Amino acid sequence: MPKTKIGVLISGRGSNMMSIVRACKTGEIPADVALVVSNKADAAGLEWARDRGLTTAVLSHKEFHDREDHDRAIVSALVTAGVEWVCLAGYMRLLSRPFIEAFPGRILNIHPSLLPSFPGLHGQRDALEWGVKVSGCTVHLVDLELDHGPIVEQCAVAVGDDDDEEALSARILEHEHQAYPRALRKLLSVPWRVVGRRVVFGKPR
Ligand code: GRF
Repeated sequence: MPKTKIGVLISGRGSNMMSIVRACKTGEIPADVALVVSNKADAAGLEWARDRGLTTAVLSHKEFHDREDHDRAIVSALVTAGVEWVCLAGYMRLLSRPFIEAFPGRILNIHPSLLPSFPGLHGQRDALEWGVKVSGCTVHLVDLELDHGPIVEQCAVAVGDDDDEEALSARILEHEHQAYPRALRKLLSVPWRVVGRRVVFGKPR
């Protein structure tokens, strides 16, 4: 049976994209990464992907009239590559409705906090400033709101008294690299459905 094709969207370092690619190669995720898209030509993750023979595309938002036009171009590249599931991995743009509707219930994001706490650009810094003793990461389905869709997977990470933003981010990132492949493996191997806001695994009783 042909494997599910995943498209990964990045804007920078791409370490979560790397963890997904590796997990596809080892068979942990029953899928292949068919396309890596970046909105930034200088994203470090792009070079890593190219070096490994992955198909990549750069579609800069600056070259499009508006967000929807940009998103339509990305969707078209993903569809042409046969992509069925989309993983946002440090992709620093909010998706518009045409994008979300092109892959209904099949777009994932990872965020470095235990949502719904600390959404937004600085999840780790905001958690530290609030003084929480536990933070972590969240893999969730993407909807129109930032860091908002139904939660697929979460992983708790203790916050140390000596942690600064860099130390906490690095510790959370290690768990992100486990959580994203784990979430994908579950979604692609086990029946699931969304009940209200809850992602429920297993056949309905
Ligand atoms: C990660 O912390 C992820 O949770 C957040 O952006 C960061 C991306 O890192 N959405 P990388 O590009 O995957 O290394």
